[in-house]
Amino acid sequence: MEPKIQNPKSKIAVLLSGRGSNFLAIHAAIERGEVPAEIVLVVSNVADAVGLAKARELGLPVVAIPHQGVPRRTQEEKVLAALREAGAEWICLAGYMRLLSPDFLAAFRQRIVNIHPSLLPAFPGLDAQEQAIAHGVKVSGCTVHLVDEGLDSGPIVVQRTVPVEDGDTPGTLAARILEQEHRAYPKALRRLLTEPWRIEGRRLLFGSSAGRE
Ligand code: GRF
Repeated sequence: MEPKIQNPKSKIAVLLSGRGSNFLAIHAAIERGEVPAEIVLVVSNVADAVGLAKARELGLPVVAIPHQGVPRRTQEEKVLAALREAGAEWICLAGYMRLLSPDFLAAFRQRIVNIHPSLLPAFPGLDAQEQAIAHGVKVSGCTVHLVDEGLDSGPIVVQRTVPVEDGDTPGTLAARILEQEHRAYPKALRRLLTEPWRIEGRRLLFGSSAGRE
């Protein structure tokens, strides 16, 4: 009989468009043994993204699939084909500045994770830190969530908070939030990959429902 593998590593792909600090935080957490996963592909729509270069330096499989001058559907189909080829089971969006079509979401239903630099549902979309300062909130933070068809609207997995100081600029607030992003994303992945969870309405609940009414 085959020995039963406890907690096999999940195959994850990271999609990014920029500097890739969240990607690096996920990678580091995997290396420390905190997240039972293997990064099977790093994809970017920006060929010279810093994050893609870092992934290459780390010896990870990378692919650039530019979106400029290409129909949206064609670019997405190429990304999907690369993800399938790599055997990706989970998709981590880490500063990936493209909206995903319903077909893409359906291909990885409840297996696409994103991080956003605000306490959702407050301040979705671009410039979340600037929106938070302009609104005058005293607390902000970051949200890791599953991706659905809305804008930054899927079920929430983990949130972490930071204070908003009177003298904050979007830059200083972004830096404070980013520190928490680097903790939140690995934590969210660890929980999703190692704990039972379910979706009830809008809520993502950890733990087995056995024995509950
Ligand atoms: C982060 O602030 C993340 O919340 C947002 O895009 C930014 C990406 O930063 N979705 P990095 O490329 O991971 O450093």
